[in-house]
Amino acid sequence: MKPLNQQKATKSRHFLSRRQFLQSAAAATGAGLIILPGGVLRGADAPSKKLTVALIGVGGRGRAHFGAVKNENVVALCDVSDKALASAAQVFPDAKHYVDWRKCLDHKEVDAVICCTTDHTHAFVSNWAINRGMHVYCEKPLANCVAEARLVRANYLKNRHKIATQVGMQRHEFTNFNRVREAVLDGAVGTLQHVHVWGDRQHNKTAYLPAAGEPPTDLHYDLWIGPAPWHPYNPGYIGGCLKWNMYWDFGNWQVGDMGSHTMDLAWNAIDATLPLTATAHGDPVNPDVAPSALTMTFEHPANAWRPAIKVTWYQGTHKPTSISGIPTKPGHGALFLGDKAGLVAGFRELELFPLDEKKGMAHYTPRPEAKQLPKLGNFQEQWINACKGDLKTACDFEYSGNMIEQLLLGLVAFRTGKKIEYDGNAGRVTNSAEANALLSRKYREGWTLNG
Ligand SMILES: NC(=O)c1ccc[n+]([C@@H]2O[C@H](COP(=O)([O-])OP(=O)(O)OC[C@H]3O[C@@H](n4cnc5c(N)ncnc54)[C@H](O)[C@@H]3O)[C@@H](O)[C@H]2O)c1
Repeated sequence: MKPLNQQKATKSRHFLSRRQFLQSAAAATGAGLIILPGGVLRGADAPSKKLTVALIGVGGRGRAHFGAVKNENVVALCDVSDKALASAAQVFPDAKHYVDWRKCLDHKEVDAVICCTTDHTHAFVSNWAINRGMHVYCEKPLANCVAEARLVRANYLKNRHKIATQVGMQRHEFTNFNRVREAVLDGAVGTLQHVHVWGDRQHNKTAYLPAAGEPPTDLHYDLWIGPAPWHPYNPGYIGGCLKWNMYWDFGNWQVGDMGSHTMDLAWNAIDATLPLTATAHGDPVNPDVAPSALTMTFEHPANAWRPAIKVTWYQGTHKPTSISGIPTKPGHGALFLGDKAGLVAGFRELELFPLDEKKGMAHYTPRPEAKQLPKLGNFQEQWINACKGDLKTACDFEYSGNMIEQLLLGLVAFRTGKKIEYDGNAGRVTNSAEANALLSRKYREGWTLNG
């Protein structure tokens, strides 16, 4: 047993909030401002080994994160639904309740935020949280338009020495992601030429829903709409992402949804950043809803280990059953096509198809186990450990920001019906003023992305 004075010291350090620590450290140095190197508050010597966490969006997918933070200090719960708050309070009875995420992010002691709200608020919550020096785990997709992806990524890059970020592409932890990357890098398909990625979900919506009475008193509908242009209440919008994510003002249908997961399978293996061009076609352009059937193709420049490649995303009824004679998988998956073979990957398995049956796969030997990439482990845990340690995660806002920027640029090409040429450094389409206007969104008065 420790002497009493040491026990006291440990206890008071344990409960010192991040802000209190900064204040006391500033007082101790006599300085108004102190600059701490990244990880100081969160490493082995941190005043508390528990993170103080705010959960924003605590119903639906939000519940999938309760287990991950059960050993942390959850101090704030935020949801526009009083019912969701009441239910989450059963698990975290000591946390303070908020209905407006802007107020929640001003909760003094919060170190880290998990955001599981509607897609049209992800970049807002993430960017505001970064502005307050908080670690962020944001559900996919990170952004709802190109400009949002760029803003959040840039803000993260400025702050990466002190915060850890992760986008909720949790399938990334499946060991198959590493096996696919190793096979592509080790030449299983020969020289990589084209990566095809698909998802077969469909929707049949054609317009925003009509007004249908007043929202229930336990739903803060004005805050649910948040920064989006106003749409009258209809219960059909509420209760899960497949109710709202096909409407442009709330989401981008499967491009942001399963697109985030399945493109990740490809993105992890191709070391791409931003494309040079984008083309797309699909359902007729509809001002209210994102297309159900869609094909988007991107041209990516060469990098250190491969030549220039194309990346194609197929969605809904556009999902092909075979590509260059190679059968695709049902549901979601990717085909890496090279000059020697095709590699078809699902989230948990891969198959190789030699293009010359006589030669077969003689050109390729899979890596021995000892040389395989290390396991990621639990995806949410990786972020929690990163917040307390080296700040490194697999799907940080740089990796995920680039990936979603590519996909969202494809929707700009879809809406203009043109092949667009993109300057990824400047974030500008160089051959269409119409396309440039579609890179960003207009927000409801009173809402700002950069608060
Ligand atoms: N990683 C995954 O596998 C996965 C799976 C499902 C959903 N998701 C993502 O999670 C997010 C939520 O999806 P869902 O199906 O749970 O949706 P949902 O409509 O059920 O919303 C989740 C919760 O967030 C609350 N909420 C909505 N807007 C809010 C706001 N502005 N402020 C505070 N709370 C708000 C809702 O009331 C609800 O309790 C989506 O972005 C979706 O893409 C990810």
